[in-house]
Amino acid sequence: AQLDVLAKLAGKQYFGSAVDNPALADKPYVRQLTNRLDFSQLTPSNTMKWETIQPQRGVFNFTGGDEIVKLAQRNGQKVRGHTCLWHSQLAPWVEAGKFDNATLHEIIHDHCYKMVRHYRGDVGFDVSWIVSWDVVNEAFEDDGTFRKTVFYNTTGLTYFDTVFRSARAADPKAKLYINDYNLEGLGPKSDAVAALVKDLKARGVPIDGIGVQGHLILGRVPTTIKENFQRFADLGVEVAITELDIRMELPVTPEKLEQQRKDYETVIAACRAVKKCIGVTIWDYTDKYSWVPGWFEGEGAALPWDEDLKKKPAYNGIASGW
Ligand code: XIL
Repeated sequence: AQLDVLAKLAGKQYFGSAVDNPALADKPYVRQLTNRLDFSQLTPSNTMKWETIQPQRGVFNFTGGDEIVKLAQRNGQKVRGHTCLWHSQLAPWVEAGKFDNATLHEIIHDHCYKMVRHYRGDVGFDVSWIVSWDVVNEAFEDDGTFRKTVFYNTTGLTYFDTVFRSARAADPKAKLYINDYNLEGLGPKSDAVAALVKDLKARGVPIDGIGVQGHLILGRVPTTIKENFQRFADLGVEVAITELDIRMELPVTPEKLEQQRKDYETVIAACRAVKKCIGVTIWDYTDKYSWVPGWFEGEGAALPWDEDLKKKPAYNGIASGW
């Protein structure tokens, strides 16, 4: 059976893929992307980021995001919104850091509220087509300290309150997540996220989930994913794997592909084992459009379909993990 079918049989809400708008011109690519037996969920990998959505103060551009949401809607696929607040791919006018605390709070509210509100109703749906939002992305360093972004430097921790409340007000039904990488296994960064989520919940700040990106390295899948996910779930939030890929040093060999199959299986089995791990999204489905070669020198082949859109052993690893 296929990946979303198996995820549902395992009691999960979806298996999905990220997609970036330029790839929508590639017909064979779109045919597989919209195959609902494999994917019942999509995440726009770039066009809901701040630099695109609000490139200048008060100037909003929803074109790319709308294109993906409409495609998903036509195909009965859910969407994950990505992302309200992130230090990277941020508009220069915000990044410059020239606003005082009160003004930056207003800017954060305005940005997140307008974007989440737009996708709740303005694209022609009665109900939101976006089931969950990565409200805050990558707020921590790997050692568990807060990342010193313009948001942190200007507002301290109060930006979390503002941005989560804005998202909730804009779309009360969407699940609101904090999302980060190197959060798969137990460690200082996942401890820090757990502590923050506990504090936000105790103070009544609306947060529903922890997103674990899952940008992993071949043969180095953490051994404590299940324990960590369960500890997150015990805080009273759901967990999702939001950007899974498992990269290898090139060239590809049959041995590496076999290791990758096992690694995918291990990760999926960990999600399967934790009831509150509600779904998995891969960070695009084919090596043809993976971000990995562009970001990690000499690495690639991180996804379950190769550059010719053929299934790799990793596909079977996901299937058997479910
Ligand atoms: C990546 C995109 O895939 C690339 O196209 C872009 O150039 C850089 O960002 N963590 C995230 C994602 O939360 O937004 C990133 O996406 C990958 C790392």
